[in-house]
Amino acid sequence: MQERIKQIEAEAIKTISGCQSLQSLEEARIRYLGKNSDFFSVLRSLGTLTPEERPIIGALVNTTKANLEQAMRDKKVLLLQAEQKQRIEVEKIDVSLPGKGVRRGTIHPLSQVMKEAQDIFLRLGYEIAEGPEVETEYHNFDGLNIPPHHPSRDAWGTFFVKDEVVLRTHTSPVQIRVMEKRKPPLAIIAPGRVYRRDSDATHSPIFNQLEGFLVDQKITFGDLKGTLTEFLRQMFGKDKNVRFRPSFFPFTEPSAEVDVECVMCSGRGCRLCKGSGWLEILGSGMIDPNVFKAVGYDPKKFSGFAFGMGIERIAMLKYKIDDIRLFFENDVRFLEQF
Ligand code: DAH
Repeated sequence: MQERIKQIEAEAIKTISGCQSLQSLEEARIRYLGKNSDFFSVLRSLGTLTPEERPIIGALVNTTKANLEQAMRDKKVLLLQAEQKQRIEVEKIDVSLPGKGVRRGTIHPLSQVMKEAQDIFLRLGYEIAEGPEVETEYHNFDGLNIPPHHPSRDAWGTFFVKDEVVLRTHTSPVQIRVMEKRKPPLAIIAPGRVYRRDSDATHSPIFNQLEGFLVDQKITFGDLKGTLTEFLRQMFGKDKNVRFRPSFFPFTEPSAEVDVECVMCSGRGCRLCKGSGWLEILGSGMIDPNVFKAVGYDPKKFSGFAFGMGIERIAMLKYKIDDIRLFFENDVRFLEQF
């Protein structure tokens, strides 16, 4: 009988390990451990054994049964793993999964303000010109009547790339580049990035300017005033007052800074305008005769005006943003609001 049990166990183990599916494993279970199995008939015949044989065979039957059940559990785990692997393979592409939503972008507030400013001048008949951000010291300074060692150079915290080459500190060098190549009449705007050694809540080492200039015969300060007043009213609102304050720039004479009525308090005086009721928006003036000479124009024949403004500043005032760094951090929670 011991022989018989060992034989059944060997056969059953072989069958179990050969099973390819859960179903055949279940069939093997019925065949080897079921009510009609040989193993079960061995069990049933235990009663016919002698009292001496009974415990020996009984123990063997128990371990054999435990062995077979363990083999089946192990096999079941393997089969389930194989089945899952196969299912993952088949369902690699799950067409029932919802698609990933594509978030709709928004136009950066600086781009919006830049476009708005450009559009105003384009409607007034200006055309757009561009110049390099890595600029010669000559175009950035000398040509604009800012000679070497002149104290006014200090006003622009300049990054030097190498000797006589700088990151442009303003867009004014585009004036020189355009006038070197072309003759009046000219009505040009020059948008672009500029660089200065400056960094706090209202200053960034990289920022954007919009430069503009107009050159023809008999251009007067009245043309400058009319043009910039119209620009600021379109930008900040028809009802806003504008004022021109005497100022100094090496490349213009006379020069004026232009203020718009405070966007916060409408002129009554508040923290933003430091109680003055006015916000400084741009620098401007009549192009200095020395600039005309530098580009080979006859200052007796031609006159013109020029202006420059910071786009970040305009955007901050328009949208009441108090920290310039928000524009460059590109946090969508900020950008989405515009
Ligand atoms: N370039 C000047 C700046 O960066 C701004 C400026 C002032 C530009 C007067 C002009 C101008 O064209 O006429 O501070």
